[in-house]
Amino acid sequence: MLHQPFFDPTKSYEENWKEGPFGAFASTINSSERSRLRSDELLRTEGEPKYKVFEHKVYLPFGIPAGPLLNGRFVDAALDLNFDIPMHKTVRTRAKACHPFPNVLAIEIEGDLTMEKASHQLKAKEGYLAPLSITNSFGNPSQDSDIWQRDIAHSVAHARKGQIVAASIEGTKWPGYSDADYIQDWAIGAGLLKEAGAQIIEANLSCPNEGTTSLVCFDVNRARKIAEAIKNKIGNTPLLLKTAYFSDEENLRHFVKELGKIVDGISSINTISAEVVNEKGQPALPGEGRLRSGVCGHAIKWAGLDMVKRLKKLREEFNYHFLIFGGGGVMNPQDYQEYHQAGADVVMSATGAMWNPYLAGEIKKLIISKV
Ligand SMILES: Cc1cc2nc3c(=O)[nH]c(=O)nc-3n(C[C@H](O)[C@H](O)[C@H](O)COP(=O)(O)O)c2cc1C
Repeated sequence: MLHQPFFDPTKSYEENWKEGPFGAFASTINSSERSRLRSDELLRTEGEPKYKVFEHKVYLPFGIPAGPLLNGRFVDAALDLNFDIPMHKTVRTRAKACHPFPNVLAIEIEGDLTMEKASHQLKAKEGYLAPLSITNSFGNPSQDSDIWQRDIAHSVAHARKGQIVAASIEGTKWPGYSDADYIQDWAIGAGLLKEAGAQIIEANLSCPNEGTTSLVCFDVNRARKIAEAIKNKIGNTPLLLKTAYFSDEENLRHFVKELGKIVDGISSINTISAEVVNEKGQPALPGEGRLRSGVCGHAIKWAGLDMVKRLKKLREEFNYHFLIFGGGGVMNPQDYQEYHQAGADVVMSATGAMWNPYLAGEIKKLIISKV
């Protein structure tokens, strides 16, 4: 069932940042509205947390991945509504503006968004209905580091027993930066996240590889330099690498072989890229370079599940020990279970959680009562 989303796609990113979150997430913050939530929808903390995620124990190895939780208020609300591993949106070492409004649109897709279908244009549509797939296009904006450091520190303090706060970084080739400066920018950002108290740090490698046409995760040499620089900086804080869907098995094998021994976890998948047009066949999102955007939600579940299964096989083959954070199209408790059974150590939901703030609570009702 779709509820009022906690990120409102009819408002700009800046309005969401200032006024959000919305719907049930807002009710957790405003004490006079807290009574509107059914008591069993608020945090369920009975007994001891059983699931080990690195050196932490959580009640449910489930969370919201980087993106929809724009600032500390969003992260705190997610914690209050049973998401035990919320991840603060991807940040940069300096402030960067967001792409123009709109940033989220519903997409018309029959069945799975296969890579073949993603090579053709997709149509944006009005209204958000199940089974929901959307496109999102923000350009990874960021506040200045003092703002996100303060927010993350606050959320870490807000988390209760059995909950941890994760955060995500993306390096930037700021004007005048050399390749070496760019690699260091990832490490500096990760260091600032650690300083703020983030308990898991993710490097968003599913972003454009600056200076090339591809994504960083498809450039194993550069990804290795980034992972090593971050590891040197953050020491024993767990490091995840976020990847896109790998169509080519040999590329994935190479990535896992080289990176799987350096990092603590691999997080997959990010969105699947496609050209998105409106009814008239024109780019659905305004502004230069926005014909292509990332599709997520229901239609990409097949790809997330496929990556989890392949990562699990490769982990066994190389005898590595990284954790698998799986996601893509997790819309309901059954999807959570499918990911868990496929081998995900932790399951994440962005689109599903945005339109169902009670998703973690629903999974807890189903799973925790059985363990
Ligand atoms: C509104 C929104 C913003 C996102 N922003 C980011 C981001 O900043 N960094 C990132 O690594 N992924 C970002 N993503 C991608 C999600 O983390 C996730 O990988 C993707 O949406 C697939 O999961 P889903 O099908 O559950 O949405 C964003 C997704 C959404 C819906």
